[in-house]
Amino acid sequence: MLGNGNQTKMTTVLVTGASRGIGLEFVRQYARSGYSVIATCRTPEKANQLTGLLKGAVNILVEPLDVASDKSIQALNQVLNERAVTIDLLISNAGILINERFLDWNRDSFRETLETNAVGPAMLVQSLNPFLSQSAKVVQLSSRLGSLDWGGKGMSDGDSYAISKVALNMLTVRLASIYEGSKRIAVSISPGWVATEMGGPGATLAVEDSVSKMIPTIEALTVSDSGRFIDGKGDSLPW
Ligand SMILES: NC(=O)c1ccc[n+]([C@@H]2O[C@H](COP(=O)([O-])OP(=O)(O)OC[C@H]3O[C@@H](n4cnc5c(N)ncnc54)[C@H](OP(=O)(O)O)[C@@H]3O)[C@@H](O)[C@H]2O)c1
Repeated sequence: MLGNGNQTKMTTVLVTGASRGIGLEFVRQYARSGYSVIATCRTPEKANQLTGLLKGAVNILVEPLDVASDKSIQALNQVLNERAVTIDLLISNAGILINERFLDWNRDSFRETLETNAVGPAMLVQSLNPFLSQSAKVVQLSSRLGSLDWGGKGMSDGDSYAISKVALNMLTVRLASIYEGSKRIAVSISPGWVATEMGGPGATLAVEDSVSKMIPTIEALTVSDSGRFIDGKGDSLPW
């Protein structure tokens, strides 16, 4: 049903990193609200929770996407092209956190973190540009650890992660400046400390609560919000 052009136009959202955690919950909640959802993840055949959502749902399309791979991004483009998809909302959620001890850094893990959390989202949004609607919203899942003002405080072994989220935040600002004069919107949003595989069991927010807070905030975004770094409620966070 996605992109067949014969039915009432629904808002289309594309979510990255939808196999689990916050991405999976975005898919669940947007699908429940009647959005057309393109749920992407690295290995759909292993994403049992995601494919479980397909039962009885006609508005979810699952497609493979590794944001760190140009080949994978190109393959997704081909699918979107064939289906003549227009994306109203991009939830750029895929991310990794590799714990490393202070001054025990490792070039490979830094590279992998930057590839996934910053370079990948940049290459993806560039490649999806022709599919974004004129008033598309591009939402980057960032983190308080990416705040320069706060010095990335809050996690002692997350330096590469914090650095990658600073870069991601600059991507948001650059996109917002590119979108200036149009109706497109780019924001960075911090979901809070969320009980997922990444956030761990000690986190203060359940994934359902984090996402149900972010969805109305994203819905309410207007052009004047473009380029902002916000929390789930829409309050500004310091860069
Ligand atoms: N949880 C928190 O407390 C918290 C706080 C601040 C910000 N965030 C941000 O929120 C986002 C989601 O986090 P989460 O807590 O849901 O993490 P999570 O439970 O670890 O899930 C991460 C998701 O990203 C996917 N992913 C990783 N590398 C990928 C790649 N190269 N291409 C495509 N997908 C990839 C994973 O897929 P696989 O199944 O293939 O590994 C998984 O679906 C991240 O950007 C994270 O930095 C989370």
